[in-house]
Formats: sequence, C-alpha cells, structure tokens
Amino acid sequence: MGLDYQLVLYNKHKKTYDKIIVFSMLLYVILFAAITLIFNSETSIETLIIRAFGSLAIIMLHIILAIGPLSRLNTGFLPILYNRRHLGVSMFLAALIHGGFSIFQFHALGNANPIYSLFTSNMDYDSLTNFPFQVLGFLALLILFVMASTSHDFFLANLSAKVWKRLHMMVYGAYVLIIAHVFLGAFQQETSSFTIGILIIGFIIISSLHIVTAFKEHKIDMAKGKEKEGWLEVCDISEIEENRAKIFTVNNERVAIFKYEEKLSAIHNVCKHQGGPLGEGKIIDGCITCPWHGYQYLPHNGQSPPPFTEKVATYQLKLFGTTVYIYPKAYEEGTEVKPTPIES
Ligand code: HEM
Ligand code: FES
Repeated sequence: MGLDYQLVLYNKHKKTYDKIIVFSMLLYVILFAAITLIFNSETSIETLIIRAFGSLAIIMLHIILAIGPLSRLNTGFLPILYNRRHLGVSMFLAALIHGGFSIFQFHALGNANPIYSLFTSNMDYDSLTNFPFQVLGFLALLILFVMASTSHDFFLANLSAKVWKRLHMMVYGAYVLIIAHVFLGAFQQETSSFTIGILIIGFIIISSLHIVTAFKEHKIDMAKGKEKEGWLEVCDISEIEENRAKIFTVNNERVAIFKYEEKLSAIHNVCKHQGGPLGEGKIIDGCITCPWHGYQYLPHNGQSPPPFTEKVATYQLKLFGTTVYIYPKAYEEGTEVKPTPIES
C-alpha cells in the first residue's frame, strides 16, 4: 500500500488484466481492418490505421467513463475498475497512434512545422461545417498525455490524492473536446451518420449512468437519522450484511458502518489511496478492504495494518435494542474505538 512504490508491481490479476486489454485491442484493429477492406478495398493503409485507432480510442474512453458508475451500481464490475489506469494509458496510446498518423499524413509532408500546420492550415475557426476539428483532437490528446504520464503511484504519492484526483477529472474535459472533434470531423468525412449515431448513443449511456449514480449517492447523503440523546439513528442491525457495511452521512461526511464477528465498527468512508468508497468493500482477513485497489484498514482503529501507514477517522457506535446509532463527531484519524458488541 502506501509504504513505498515500485515501477510496476505486477501480480497475477494485473497480468491477466493487461493481456485482456492488449488482446482485445489487437482483435478490434484486425476486425476493423478486415471489415473496412471487405466494404472498401480502396482504403489506404494510413486511413485504415487512423480510423481503426481513432474509433478504438473513443470506444475505450467510453468504457473508462462507464466503469466508475457501473461499479458503484453493481459490484460485479469492480474487477474492471481495478487497474483502470492501465486501460487509460492503453487508450492514450491508441489515441496517440491515431493522432500521430493523422499529423504525419496531413501535416508533416510540407515545409511547415507539422504542429504549426495543424493549427494554421485551416483557419475556418468561425465555421461550424468546416471547423479545423483536428485542433480539438490535439488538445484532447494533450490532456490524455498529462493524465497517462502522471498515472503512476509515484505521482499519486507526491502530488497528494486530492490534487491527483482533480488532475484526473480532466478526463471529462478531454471527453467534451473529443466529442466535438469527432462530431465536427464526421460532418467533413463520408462516415458521418454512423459515427454520429455511435457518438450520440455513447453520450446517452455515459450521462445516464452518471445521473443514476448521482441519485443513489444523493439518497445516501440526504438520509437523516432521528436523534436520541445526541446519537443519530442509522438503521436496523439486520440491514447490514456480515462483513459488509452500511454507508451513512454525518456532518456531511460519509461513514462506513461494518458488521463482523458479532461486532460493529465505523470508519470514514473515503480511502486514502484514491478516495475509493470503503463502505462498498468488505472485511477480508479481519481488515476492511477497499473495493478499488485493495488498501486495507483495521475496523477498530481505521489504521492500515503494519508496515503500512494510512489511517482514517473512526466513529463511536451504540445499539438501542436492534437499532444502530452513531455519535456524529469523528475521532482523530487512527484513533482506537472499542467495537460495539452485538448481543444475540
Ligand atoms: C493530434 C490529435 C488528433 C488529430 C490530428 C486527429 C485527426 C483526426 C482526423 C484527420 C480524423 C478524420 C479521419 C478520417 O476519417 O479520415 C479524425 C477522426 C477521428 N478522431 Fe481524431 N485526431 C486527434 C486526436 C483524437 C483523439 C485524442 C481521439 C479519441 C480519443 C480521436 C478520435 C477520433 C475518432 C473516433 C474519429 C472518427 C474516426 C472515423 O473516421 O470513423 N482523435 N481525427
Ligand atoms: S482507492 Fe485505491 S485502494 Fe482505495
């Protein structure tokens, strides 16, 4: 976990994940080339590469943007979320091949600097139908480059999780630029109606998933427990599964209340690694295990087991009959709180 980082810490899961990514990308490019050549045998190899990798990059971007909300709605998607960064870097490489070949084919064969040519060969910036859409692709590629090059845990540790997360939210900026790039470009290419159709369906799916997830989260934040002697009512004990948690919001902070071995413990819901929702994880080997990349915390003190050093805030719980109550004030990160016993 946060003790140290190595260049790439490979495990069996990561290797399988990467093999699936590489295999799927190759399969896509081969299928794309075969289908294109069947329907239009005149297509040049450069155009084939540009189109195959451009469409591959945008499909991958949609998958990347869908994984977050999908895994909040259904834990079955968590294995794809794990190492989503590898998917992001692979997507950037696909976009780079697409952008690189486009610049080479359309801007590198004259006397002008290819990047200068990209920005100036078409100056119709005030036209919608003839807008130099390649410029938008270039700006998106720059964002993807910043994200891919800072995706390693080295930057996460040195920039802090908060700054890193903000940096990586720029993916939405890249998405908007790419939509505009493809949308405006499609008007100028013969593939227009198919490309526009795919783009619209993708946009509807991505935005619907984000809206549904936002509603789910909003429901959690709006749940107000009744107060009893300074304690806030959370739920009936039967509503929490063994080794799982109920997420509850107190003082605008989400708290994960875990039930395990006839006990209850509560810790702050936000993982120190990349802000993963600890309450959506489970207890494995006695530790609360983050569903995103497996950071672990001890339920009774919110500390990562030695030699790791992460710690999160803890909370006091109480049972009135079978109803779980929480004391709204958080303890300092890593403070030990005696678990609340569940009397059967
Ligand atoms: C330097 C950056 C970029 C340049 C110069 C560039 C250039 C181009 C060009 C010339 C086309 C039209 C190709 C054709 O159909 O003949 C195109 C289409 C496209 N671009 Fe880009 N692009 C760049 C970045 C990106 C990025 C970052 C993405 C997505 C992640 C992207 C996705 C696409 C897609 C999906 C198409 C439509 C493919 C099709 O024709 O079916 N591009 N781009
Ligand atoms: S967010 Fe990565 S382990 Fe929790």
